[in-house]
Amino acid sequence: MTPQLIDPFARAITYLRVSVTDRCDFRCVYCMSENMTFLPKKELLTLEELDRLCSAFVGLGVEKLRITGGEPLVRRDILTFFHAMSRHLHTGALKELTLTTNGSQLARFATDLYAAGVRRINVSLDTLDEAKFARVTRWGRLGQVLRGIEAARAAGLRVKINAVALRGFNEDELFDLTAWCAREDMDLTWIEVMPMGDLGNEDRIGQYWPVSDIRTQLARRYTVTDLAHRTGGPARYVRLEETGQQVGFITPLTHNFCESCNRVRLTCTGELYMCLGQEDMADLRAPLRAHPGTDAPLIKAIHAAIGLKPKGHDFDYSRQRADGQVSRHMSHTGG
Ligand code: GTP
Ligand code: 5AD
Ligand code: SF4
Repeated sequence: MTPQLIDPFARAITYLRVSVTDRCDFRCVYCMSENMTFLPKKELLTLEELDRLCSAFVGLGVEKLRITGGEPLVRRDILTFFHAMSRHLHTGALKELTLTTNGSQLARFATDLYAAGVRRINVSLDTLDEAKFARVTRWGRLGQVLRGIEAARAAGLRVKINAVALRGFNEDELFDLTAWCAREDMDLTWIEVMPMGDLGNEDRIGQYWPVSDIRTQLARRYTVTDLAHRTGGPARYVRLEETGQQVGFITPLTHNFCESCNRVRLTCTGELYMCLGQEDMADLRAPLRAHPGTDAPLIKAIHAAIGLKPKGHDFDYSRQRADGQVSRHMSHTGG
């Protein structure tokens, strides 16, 4: 299908990220504060409303749907939603249905996710050290996540590990994480930490470990070859020739990838964020609820929102402060 959502910078929007809940069973330090107030349930879109919204986007040329949160698998009956979305895979309109998860619930859900047409998932994991994992997630347990990953692979899902690069935290695990992913045949992507949410006592500049440095360190031990391969996300990939594995880099700070942005984000209350790093959003819940019988006003609102998509984020640490900060937590829009 020809994409119908073209933004003011001539970028075609073909990728929708949908946060189905703001809740999570972890409290990662860079994502949430320890005492979060979550949305009352009545604020949330129902699964039927989420279906209607996502289907409208698919009708407008969206080919990739990534379900996020909070933690998407803690939303009640979420499998019903995955199964509903799989009908768009069957028609061929949707090329990929996937999710980003903390892995805690995968042991329960992996087989059903595969049955719903999910083939590739991203699991967020920053460390293989139990004590460090407990520290960075505040509430998480490493063993549970590792069992979840195992279940996912046993179910036939391809797993990509997303690690937030944190100076003084997982720097010393660069080679351990790389070797683990090689052994388990999983891709690995490093993400530069972004200034989102209430930073409180968090020292973003101190935590910032530029991904360019990761590449330099990898090149000391491996032959690093750039790959042209893209997944439709912002990561750029390299291959480590000695192991044949793929390593990705997501570099909002060292290299701005916004010129090729193809995505927008829907929250669990029906807000559409046109950029992860900006505050503008459009309310899609109002046109959705006001017109149960027709999607025309909703589609009009979607077009209007895409017409306001900004050029990119303004994250910048180069002046030794966290510039371009956005006030909402990452869990609001799911990364
Ligand atoms: P694949 O390439 O399909 O594996 O996925 P992806 O990289 O699009 O999705 P994933 O959920 O793995 O994204 C990883 C992280 O990259 C997100 O959680 C964000 O932190 C970051 N990210 C994704 N898209 C953007 C974006 O448009 N802007 C910025 N600044 N960061 C992004
Ligand atoms: N900067 C970069 N990545 C972040 N994530 C959460 N908060 C941040 C942040 N401030 C990542 C998580 C997960 C994904 C949803 O976003 O680790 O991989
Ligand atoms: Fe939960 Fe993911 Fe945020 Fe951690 S990064 S608190 S696992 S939503």
